[in-house]
Amino acid sequence: MALINMKDLLAHAKQHKYAVGAFNITNLDFVDHIMDAAVESNSPVIMQLAEVHFRYLNLEDIAPILINAAKNVSVPVCIHLDHGKSLKTMIRAIRAGFTSIMYDGSEHPLEENIKNTAEVVKIAHSVGVSVEGELGNVGGEAVGVEAATPHTASEEFYTRVEDAVRFNDETGLDTLAISIGNVHGLYKGDPKLDFARLTAIRDAVDIPLVLHGGSGISDDDFKKAVSLGICKINFYTGISQAAMIKVHKFIQEHPKSISYPDLAKLAMSELKKVVMDRMDVFGSKGQCAADKTLCITCSDTSCGLDDPRIKPEAKTVVYQDLVDKISLEVLNNLNQK
Ligand code: 13P
Repeated sequence: MALINMKDLLAHAKQHKYAVGAFNITNLDFVDHIMDAAVESNSPVIMQLAEVHFRYLNLEDIAPILINAAKNVSVPVCIHLDHGKSLKTMIRAIRAGFTSIMYDGSEHPLEENIKNTAEVVKIAHSVGVSVEGELGNVGGEAVGVEAATPHTASEEFYTRVEDAVRFNDETGLDTLAISIGNVHGLYKGDPKLDFARLTAIRDAVDIPLVLHGGSGISDDDFKKAVSLGICKINFYTGISQAAMIKVHKFIQEHPKSISYPDLAKLAMSELKKVVMDRMDVFGSKGQCAADKTLCITCSDTSCGLDDPRIKPEAKTVVYQDLVDKISLEVLNNLNQK
């Protein structure tokens, strides 16, 4: 099985200078096709569900499906809560078996964001779950709002280096989402990322950095951002849009069709193509070894294997495993009595 938390996953990405794509799922077809894309690309992947998308997928219903899908593939898969807004949502995700959660306190004043994030970190770390926080504020539409209007980033909400240092020191979080000109949804004009700010933040804090609002950023800018320390890239609007373009085309070409599966198949194969293409651009393609190599979390170099790619079976002990283990022990004890 290949369920992994974000901390371990991104430690490898940071060391080897690539970024792992984090793709939002809004229906079951997305799960299958993103997973297929990861397996075919030999790439680690982050499957994430945003709180704003609970209206499409119920967290407790989708969690076992995601966990099973992850356990059935050999590439490392992190199951992540995207833009969680309350402690209650954090606890729900942890209980459901997510290996990573994002507490997005970016709309709160810094002190409150620090206080809340630190509390989430304390709880999540006690069960091996990683935490992403956000500092500054990534603007644009809330992820996945229909009929999105294009946005530009507002400099007043960019992440400040000195705040990032405090945030990192005082919360102990695992990954940090930053605002450097990126916005969610469609960009108005070409996005202009503040690479000098990215470099300064990277030099000031040691944890992996996250770029939200991936859709619309050019391949060259992605590569530059990754070379400067971005280890996770959130990408959603682009896959939804690519699928919809195919839907429009199909309906135009087959106005009388009554076959929904044919339409869905076409749309999802386009989504998979875009995901595979992103994995290539982000540099995560081919990062998983086809056979046994060094374990991602292993510091034992005496085994003689020196392939730096991720071992397919790399895994972290997560809450769900502990629950399974303890339940089994209880059952065994009961049976012996
Ligand atoms: P896009 O939809 O703009 O790609 O952003 C996705 C995202 O950042 C999810 O948190």
